[in-house]
Amino acid sequence: MGLTRFVANQAKATLKNPARIGMVFSPTGVRRLRAMVLNSFQLRNISNTWEQDGNLKNRRYNSYDQYLKHQRAKVETLDLGSYDEKYYAALTDRLKGIDPGTIPTTGSVLCLGARLGTEVRAFIDQGYFALGIDLNPGVNNQYVVTGDFHHLQFADSSVDLAFTNALDHVFDVEMVLAEISRVLKPGGTFIVEAVRGTDEGKEPESFASFWWKSVDDLVDFFSKRSFEATFRGRFAFPWGGHFLCFRLSKGTPKTMVSSDLIDDKR
Ligand SMILES: C[S@@+](CC[C@H](N)C(=O)[O-])C[C@H]1O[C@@H](n2cnc3c(N)ncnc32)[C@H](O)[C@@H]1O
Repeated sequence: MGLTRFVANQAKATLKNPARIGMVFSPTGVRRLRAMVLNSFQLRNISNTWEQDGNLKNRRYNSYDQYLKHQRAKVETLDLGSYDEKYYAALTDRLKGIDPGTIPTTGSVLCLGARLGTEVRAFIDQGYFALGIDLNPGVNNQYVVTGDFHHLQFADSSVDLAFTNALDHVFDVEMVLAEISRVLKPGGTFIVEAVRGTDEGKEPESFASFWWKSVDDLVDFFSKRSFEATFRGRFAFPWGGHFLCFRLSKGTPKTMVSSDLIDDKR
């Protein structure tokens, strides 16, 4: 929703019910308004034109620098409320629900686009050594360091498991997959929490830079790039999406893996 519409809606609702005035000026109301103002300021020069490439599409930016500025701005414009607590609990549950033997139960985890580190803490509390990277990890973040998932600062074959729920924020998916393949150990695991695509009823949000028609399109794309699908589940928080596990087979690219082979019982 644009800022003008948000303010107009708030004014209309408050005229109808003057008792709302306390809520509008509550800390939550003020935080929300501040987020809306920042959001509309940050988005004023960002194009909403997308370039379709088969079943995938990319937002058209004027430059990589503009992409970086757009993505860095996201954390500033959000009122995260109880997100951290809720996402920590939801992801912990999902990790516990993966079929035994599908992913390593110890080792190193790199969380890509980890913002304040919610997923990093979830992995640490399951016994992993975990670290996140983000373009904008905020200040004094113990769990996430500054980094760009197109140019990872880590050594080849050094990570057991990579995780992301920020795939819709990539600029160049080929580059990101190449970087993940590089830093993962042979046979390493890649977990993606992917939001449903256009054909599944979801449209890209204002900070998205990459999108798909369906989650199957992503699975097919990954499978052609040496990521073999090993587990698939559904979830509803923080958005309707699919929990996807892949095993990296370094070497010759694999042919497509049919999504029929994937466990889809959740
Ligand atoms: C949808 S948010 C998810 C945040 C976090 N995973 C969570 O659930 O709390 C996407 C995050 O990706 C980050 N991001 C976007 N582009 C990035 C890039 N090229 N490299 C690293 N992080 C990036 C943004 O800064 C933002 O924090």
